[in-house]
Amino acid sequence: MNSTTLQRCVIFGNPIAQSKSPEMQMQFAHNVGVNLEYLKVLTPLDDFAGTLKHWVNQGIVGANITVPFKEEIYQLCDDLTPEARTAKAVNTIRIQEGKIYGHNTDGIGLIRDITELKGIQIAGKRVLVLGAGGAVRGIMQPLLDQKPHSVMMSNRTLIKAEQLVQEFANSTQCDISAVAWHDLQDEFDLIINGTSASLQQDFPALPQGTIGSDTIGYDLVYSNQPTIFMEYIYDNGGKKAYDGLGMLIEQGVYAFEFWFGKKPSIEGVMAIFGR
Ligand code: ATR
Repeated sequence: MNSTTLQRCVIFGNPIAQSKSPEMQMQFAHNVGVNLEYLKVLTPLDDFAGTLKHWVNQGIVGANITVPFKEEIYQLCDDLTPEARTAKAVNTIRIQEGKIYGHNTDGIGLIRDITELKGIQIAGKRVLVLGAGGAVRGIMQPLLDQKPHSVMMSNRTLIKAEQLVQEFANSTQCDISAVAWHDLQDEFDLIINGTSASLQQDFPALPQGTIGSDTIGYDLVYSNQPTIFMEYIYDNGGKKAYDGLGMLIEQGVYAFEFWFGKKPSIEGVMAIFGR
């Protein structure tokens, strides 16, 4: 690929105004010398497929897909990476000779942030995953691949957590189970919040004993202020709590690599998020 040729990518979502992906991807492009234009596309809720087709015809190289289209795009891809296939959700597509290749970089982005950038081992740890929606589905297989000691799943609607356990139980050696929120009792090493509770400023209390002095919390949501989940971890004596900014950046790094075959440095990216 000639790096002076203008490459165009977009992000599809609704709402989309809040997305910092354009600034972030433009910074990555700058860092590796790709001539990139990256646009936000406010996508009508009732015409994702038509909007996608329009932009594919416009010659985009790739796209990110965010809420609420990650599952719909999964159905529209011509081929899928193993990550997208197990997640049954797609957050990144590449267009090649008119064909749409779907990938999911959310899980690998999360794992890279936790294990490599934050230096937290998941292998052998007792992990609690809260939530059972699209965000959790995207991280399950990469999380299990880290070989934690156990993964307990809990959700406001327990049946959805039980369904995820059934779906992933055959693809792991680790002890995976679903437990009702109010029946949780063991202490966990790592608690991942994949609910959208932080967005609603409404985090339901966990039973006493689930958070100890070594417990680390990780909220998949990112925010300029500590999220309600992060505050909950600290208020209950946990060791450390993170928001999902690191995951957001790393999923973007993997998306860029999927489009352009080069892993960009993240130099200059923190400033985009005011950190
Ligand atoms: P996403 O794509 O962000 O995962 P989603 O698929 O709508 O969004 O899933 C949202 C998740 O957050 C669900 O697990 C939801 O629980 P339910 O399955 O019971 O709906 C959870 N959730 C949303 N609001 C919550 C709240 N106030 N307290 C606890 N869990 C909440």
